[in-house]
Amino acid sequence: MKVTVFRKEHFNAAHRLHNPAWSDEKNLEVFGKCNNYNYHGHNYDLIVEVTGEVNPETGYVIDMKVLSDLIREHVTDKFDHKNLNLDTEEFKEVIPSAENIAIVIHQLLRKHIDPLQELHITLYETERNFVRYPAR
Ligand code: NI
Repeated sequence: MKVTVFRKEHFNAAHRLHNPAWSDEKNLEVFGKCNNYNYHGHNYDLIVEVTGEVNPETGYVIDMKVLSDLIREHVTDKFDHKNLNLDTEEFKEVIPSAENIAIVIHQLLRKHIDPLQELHITLYETERNFVRYPAR
């Protein structure tokens, strides 16, 4: 009997969407305000979903305290109040779009979650714009 458990977290970070292979004009045209030269911030809401069998000994899919600690240690401590482009190794060469941030968060957490369990990341960049990885 599989159940999905959800943990919601939050972090603030700055970014700039910019493709160095393109001209300034093309970057502005494609990325608009998110190409702002001096960066800008977002209040990211992060939802981590773990799907798996309920452990009959605990009644849990995963201990929420353990999940919360994993997210803090591997994701929010790393990205909260940071400039993603300048302060993190993960986005030195990767454009920090919501899509890429969700993929990176999945990679950071995947190795710490039981391989028999499914992991999905939902990332809200704004109230209305959010992404999910892996795709359904
Ligand atoms: Ni932005």
